[in-house]
Amino acid sequence: MRLSLRFILPLILTLSFVAYFTVPLIDKLTLKWFSRDLEIRSSLVANTLSEAVLSTEIQNSAQQKLRLKDLFSRATQDERLFAIAYCGANNSEMIASPQMPTTIRCVTLVQTSELRPKILEFASGPLHVSYALIGSQGSYLILVHDMSFVQRRTADTKNYVFLFFILLALVISVLTVLIAQLSWLGWIKGIRSMLTIHRPDIRNVAPELRPIVREIRTLFRDREHFSRDEAQISWSAQTLRDVLKNDLAGEEVIIVSNREPYIHMHHDNKIEIQSPASGLVTALEPVMRACSGTWVAHGSGTADADVVDSSQIVQVPPENPSYNLKRVWLTKEEELGYYYGFSNEGLWPLCHIAHTRPIFRSDDWKCYLAVNEKFANAVIEECKTEDPVILVQDYHLAMVPRLIKEKLPNATVITFWHIPWPNPEAFGICPWRERILDGLLGSDILGFHTRFHCNNFTDTVDRFLESRIDRDTSTISYNGSKTAVRNYPISIEWPLKDLNKQPTIPLCRLQVCQDNQLPFDAKIGIGVDRLDYTKGILERFYAVERLLEIDSTLLGKLCFVQIGAPSRSSIAEYQNFENIVRKEAARINQKFGSKTYKPITLRVRHHQPFEVTTYFRAADFCFVSSLHDGMNLVAKEFIAARDDNNGVLILSQFAGAAKELVESIVVNPYNIDQCAEAIRLALVMPVPEQVARMKSMRFYIQEYNVFRWAGRMLLDAARMRKRGKFSNPLFPSL
Ligand code: F6P
Repeated sequence: MRLSLRFILPLILTLSFVAYFTVPLIDKLTLKWFSRDLEIRSSLVANTLSEAVLSTEIQNSAQQKLRLKDLFSRATQDERLFAIAYCGANNSEMIASPQMPTTIRCVTLVQTSELRPKILEFASGPLHVSYALIGSQGSYLILVHDMSFVQRRTADTKNYVFLFFILLALVISVLTVLIAQLSWLGWIKGIRSMLTIHRPDIRNVAPELRPIVREIRTLFRDREHFSRDEAQISWSAQTLRDVLKNDLAGEEVIIVSNREPYIHMHHDNKIEIQSPASGLVTALEPVMRACSGTWVAHGSGTADADVVDSSQIVQVPPENPSYNLKRVWLTKEEELGYYYGFSNEGLWPLCHIAHTRPIFRSDDWKCYLAVNEKFANAVIEECKTEDPVILVQDYHLAMVPRLIKEKLPNATVITFWHIPWPNPEAFGICPWRERILDGLLGSDILGFHTRFHCNNFTDTVDRFLESRIDRDTSTISYNGSKTAVRNYPISIEWPLKDLNKQPTIPLCRLQVCQDNQLPFDAKIGIGVDRLDYTKGILERFYAVERLLEIDSTLLGKLCFVQIGAPSRSSIAEYQNFENIVRKEAARINQKFGSKTYKPITLRVRHHQPFEVTTYFRAADFCFVSSLHDGMNLVAKEFIAARDDNNGVLILSQFAGAAKELVESIVVNPYNIDQCAEAIRLALVMPVPEQVARMKSMRFYIQEYNVFRWAGRMLLDAARMRKRGKFSNPLFPSL
């Protein structure tokens, strides 16, 4: 607006200035034209009157003079013709109409040039005086025209000219501003495309901007090459796609994990699709949606084989397919030995300090090796180039990095360990510890959630393998290759998928209360976990019990809903655990409940992510009380679900998430009284404090989302690939 004014005002001034000088010129010109008109008119009038006048001249009687006067008077009734006079030859007496100014007299003609028309100023205004010779004796008529109309017209013209210039100024200004705005938008679009440095086609940029675009793109690329700092990037699915396209030259990403993102199940003669309760899936599914590529995983659903093609591939997500899910089939024995046995009876309790003794069987180990080979082969089968980027996930596949590197030495293998890594003493229990370490060190990058777990891993390698450890760069050189050990705290997609399709918070509350027969004024707590002994589900129940013991006002009000996804149910430890959970819930309900009130509602079944989000939105607080956890994404999902900024998170200090979500109420789940107090605090926390804490955590997760997690790993891999081309000729091992 200010810019427009700055332009319009000077333009109007300039045009007014021009108008000021133009008007006198127009004045002169119109005067000339009107004078010419009057001359023509005068001669016309003279011609018309001449005959009558001449006949009068011949007779020259007094009566005839009177008739002439009368003729002149009638002729001057025309509004322009002011006066007429007759001058006879030899300067005889003037016969004139009554209005003839006295200053105009007959003169003796010496030369006809004396009869040139003139303009005379009178009190009534300017008069145009012209002469017309009649007959041959030298007599003539004087015709006086009133010129005041010229003055009036000139004044009008002046006004019109001024108005015209002002209008012109306005039209020019508006047009100019409009054109400027449009070209400004064009420029902005152009500049935008300049800054979209990876925009493939420069032809999309306006021609005049192309040289600048080229310059800026080169500049950006150089800058980026040397100082791309992922901390300064705002991460989204698109940023991740850009990293893949530009930093990894469009490399196809292959993810391999035990758990698959979509499980097809036969149910009531139909095929239903489940999203498993798994932090790994929660994190990686949006990454795959963003990156496309292929996800290799165990096909564990009863209908999985019915929906794949001949390459064992099905396109997912079902509602909008964007990547391949390649299924690996396992026999019952393989599943038993590799998944239930070595992975979940051995490594899982080994890495989680949850006081459940790990069980290691040689047969399970053999199975683990064989299945790892199966997964590695499935991945290699999918690779179209010699140097793909492969993301290996979790403790089920510790041997896969080495197996891939043996067959594809130029592949970039990034392995992420989703569970904690214990200290060397604890890990040392594993009879095949060196083999597992060797398998993992086939990775170019090995990621953990926390630096603490990185350090535990490095110390374990230090203890059990011949290797060179550079603690400065967190790199382990082993067997001629290097592995960078880095911490990448995992996170979730932001915003949460389908959050905008969720009912409002009051409706979520209503639905949860109705579905679980809770009083409508209930104080609702929520826990969402796989039924796993590491999650601290019992400790949470004990905290509810303790609080009801010490604060009877909460009886009938405090309702804790535990969603428990059945998990690893073939393992005796898990079966026992589920039984204890059911028993303890029943005991506490027995102790404090009534016909209409149940302090603990246990929902043991699979819940789809959308349902879980509804529970998060309905709750007054969410309790995450893991006894030991790599990260725990339930905590982050609860926060993401609360777009109303209300609700309190109680979080175990033994979950990796506690390092990031410091605004939660952090507890030691083994301290039951402290946990009870945490619930009480959550229930009385003033809304402004809830909002402040929630806002801060939401801001953090928005920034540190799963795209950043994946993006950081991929950027590190890209840097490694670039630098790998420049080994030191004097110290090749460096
Ligand atoms: O990190 C999440 C995690 O604990 C994984 O390690 C594990 O694979 C998953 O959740 C769920 O377990 P499962 O795949 O055995 O159902």
